[in-house]
Amino acid sequence: MCGIVGYIGYQAAVPILFNGLRRLEYRGYDSAGFAVLNSHGLKIRKRPGKISQLKDLLNDTALTGTIGIGHTRWATHGEPNQVNAHPHTDCSGRLALVHNGIIENYSALRKDLIAKGHVFKSETDTETLCHLFEEYIKTGCSLEAAVRKGLGQVVGTYGLVVISADEPDCIIAARKGSPLVIGHGKNEYLIASDTAPLIAHTSDVTFLDDGEVAILHNGSVVVKSIDDRIVEKCVEVVDTDISQIEKGGYAHFMLKEIMEQPQTLMDTMRGRLLMEEGTARLGGIQKDIDSLLFARRLVLTACGTSWHAGLIGEYMFEELVGIPVEVEYASEFRYRDPILGSDSVVIAISQSGETADTLAAIREAKRKRSKVFGICNVVGSSIARETDAGVYLHAGPEIGVASTKAFTSQVLVLSIMTLLLGRVRTLSSIRGREIVQEIKRIPEKVSQVLENREQVKAIAEEYKDMRNFLYLGRGYNFPVALEGALKLKEISYIHAEGYPAAEMKHGPIALIDKAMPVVFIATQDSVYDKILSNIEEVKARQGRVIAIATEGDAEIQKLADNVIYVPKTIEMLNPLVTIIPLQLLAYYIAVFRKCDIDQPRNLAKSVTVE
Ligand code: M6R
Repeated sequence: MCGIVGYIGYQAAVPILFNGLRRLEYRGYDSAGFAVLNSHGLKIRKRPGKISQLKDLLNDTALTGTIGIGHTRWATHGEPNQVNAHPHTDCSGRLALVHNGIIENYSALRKDLIAKGHVFKSETDTETLCHLFEEYIKTGCSLEAAVRKGLGQVVGTYGLVVISADEPDCIIAARKGSPLVIGHGKNEYLIASDTAPLIAHTSDVTFLDDGEVAILHNGSVVVKSIDDRIVEKCVEVVDTDISQIEKGGYAHFMLKEIMEQPQTLMDTMRGRLLMEEGTARLGGIQKDIDSLLFARRLVLTACGTSWHAGLIGEYMFEELVGIPVEVEYASEFRYRDPILGSDSVVIAISQSGETADTLAAIREAKRKRSKVFGICNVVGSSIARETDAGVYLHAGPEIGVASTKAFTSQVLVLSIMTLLLGRVRTLSSIRGREIVQEIKRIPEKVSQVLENREQVKAIAEEYKDMRNFLYLGRGYNFPVALEGALKLKEISYIHAEGYPAAEMKHGPIALIDKAMPVVFIATQDSVYDKILSNIEEVKARQGRVIAIATEGDAEIQKLADNVIYVPKTIEMLNPLVTIIPLQLLAYYIAVFRKCDIDQPRNLAKSVTVE
C-alpha cells in the first residue's frame, strides 16, 4: 500500500526521497511523487506509474532543497493518474501533504470546504486534509496547530506528513492507524511509513503511536498528543542491515526469500527449543502462558497467507494440545460480533503487523475482554504493540509481495507453541523430544527441496500456459493446498483453487479434464491411502496430476504425471517441506509468463486499509 518518506537536514532531499521511495516499492503502488522546499518556495513533481518515471528529476536544478516529502500511492479514491498522485496541495499551493490511510468522512468535509470557497483538484480523500488545514492556517494557526486542530474533525485512518512554504524549517507528521517511524541521523531526520527507507541512514528510530503528532526541525524532534501535550518518546535501535532489504544477486525478492528459508527457519527456532526436557521456551508469552493453557478455546485470526498458517495451527493445537480452536478471517471476525470472553484467547497472526483487518480484530477481541497474543514478523509494528503478549518470527524483512518465508516461520512458531503447551497438557517427554529433534532437522530438509528447484522449473515450463489449476491436500496438507493456490494466482494471474481433496467429489470434479492440472500434496501420512484414491479419481477423468510426495514413494510414480519428492518428516511439520515446491512452482510459472513477480498487479504488501 502507499508509502511515505520525509527528510529534513543538510543534504539534498530529492536523492534521499527517491532512494527512500525505491525501498518502499515492495509495498505495491501505482503512482509516485515528491515535494521539496527551497528558496523559490514549494516544488512538486508527481507521475503515474513506477518510481523510475521520476529518475530524471534527480538532475533537475529547480528541485534543490534540504526539506522534502515523497509518496508512493496505491489508489483508493480516484484512479491512478498524475492529479490524484500525492503530494496534494491546498488552494494557496503553499502547503504539500502526503497521506496513507482513508479519510472516512471526506465527503462531508469536502462539501463543507467547497461551500467555504475551496477549490479541489483531485478526486482523493487526501486532498480534503490540505484544505482543512488551510482553513485553520487562515485563522492564524501555525502549521502544527492547524494539523492538530484539523485532525480533530477527521474520522478515519492516517499516517500523514506535511510541509509548508510559510514554515520552511519544519515537517509535521501525524499518525492514527497507519504507521510512521522517525529516523534520527546526525543533524538530520527522516520520517517514513516503515523502517526500510531509514536503514541506509540510521538505525536509531522512534515509532509514533496513534494520536501523536511529530514536529521535526533541523536539529530537534518534538512529539505531542493531538490535544497539545508533550509526549516523551524513546529511541529504539533496529537491527536490520541493508543487505536484508536488497536482492543479493537474486532476480527477485521472492526467489531470495524462498531460498533463505533454511536460514530464516533456523533464526525462528534459535534459542527456543529445549532438547533435554523435550519442550520449548518462548520469552514473549512466558508470563501469560497460563491464559493459553487454561483457555476454553483459542481463536486464531489473520488474513491471506497468515490465515493459512492459522489453519495449520488449528490442526496442531487440537491434535497435540487438546484445546478447541477456531480460525477466523480477521475481516469477518471484526464485524460478526463473535462470542468471546475472558476464557477465550485470541492469537493474531501477521507478517507485517500492520494489516488493518487483523488490527481491528485484535481491538474487537480486547473490547470483549479476551487476552490477545500476536505472532508477527515486523518488530515494533502495530500488532506487536497492541497485543498483550506474543512471539516474533525473526524471519527478517519480507519484501516480495507474495509471502513465503514468513509463512514457514509462522508455521514453525505455531509448532513451537504447540510443543510448549502440549508438554504441559498432554505430551510425554519422549514425544516432546521427538518433536524437538524433528523441528531441528527441518532447515536441512527444506534445503534438500530447494536443491531440486531445476526439476520444479522444468515442470513450471510444461504447465505455464494453463489457465486453471486445482490444488488438493488433506489433513495438515489441506492448508498447504490453499497456500499453493494463493501463491500461483497472486503472481502468475492464473486462476487456482485449493480444496480439501475429498471435497473434490462434491463439486470441483466437474472441472477435471486435460486442461485442468491438479496439484496433489500426497505425502505418506495418516491420510495417504485416501489421497491416492482421490488421485485415481482425477486420472480416471483424464486430469493431469502433479504430486508432491514423500521421498522413496515409488507407488505414486505410477499415477502422477509429475512427482516432486520431499523428505519425510512428522505429520505436523509436513507443511514446512511441502509448501516449498509450491512456492517454487508459482515463482517459475510467473517467470515464464513474464509477470512482475515482486510487485504483482493490484496487490500491496501490507494491506493497511479495509
Ligand atoms: O502482513 P500480514 O501477514 O497480516 O498480511 C496478510 C495478507 O495480506 C498476506 O498474507 C497476503 O495474503 C499475501 N500477499 C500473501 O502472499
